[in-house]
Amino acid sequence: MDFLPLERLINLYDGYRQAFNVNGANIILLQEGGQVFAFSRTCPHQNYTLDYARVSDGLVVCSAHGFEFDLHRGGALVKPLGFPCAALKTYDLVYEGDRIGIVS
Ligand code: FES
Repeated sequence: MDFLPLERLINLYDGYRQAFNVNGANIILLQEGGQVFAFSRTCPHQNYTLDYARVSDGLVVCSAHGFEFDLHRGGALVKPLGFPCAALKTYDLVYEGDRIGIVS
């Protein structure tokens, strides 16, 4: 598996949010509450951008229709509960040297 670096660790802080295009995948990397997450930039409901999504306590709230996805549970849909919608794609983060990234 190949390490795909996204950001230098020194650049991360609470409130950090940056979009990346890696091997054709659009990914948001953000830090919130001391935790770093990486997830798809596109909402699985109707493909709206998550650039403006509110993120709090690991919950991503899409700004289009308010669907909520739990980053602590693999991006599972938590609101509206039971709605037939795929999970938000999340990425496992890998640290290598002074960088954080994903593997492909
Ligand atoms: S497109 Fe995100 S909740 Fe509908």
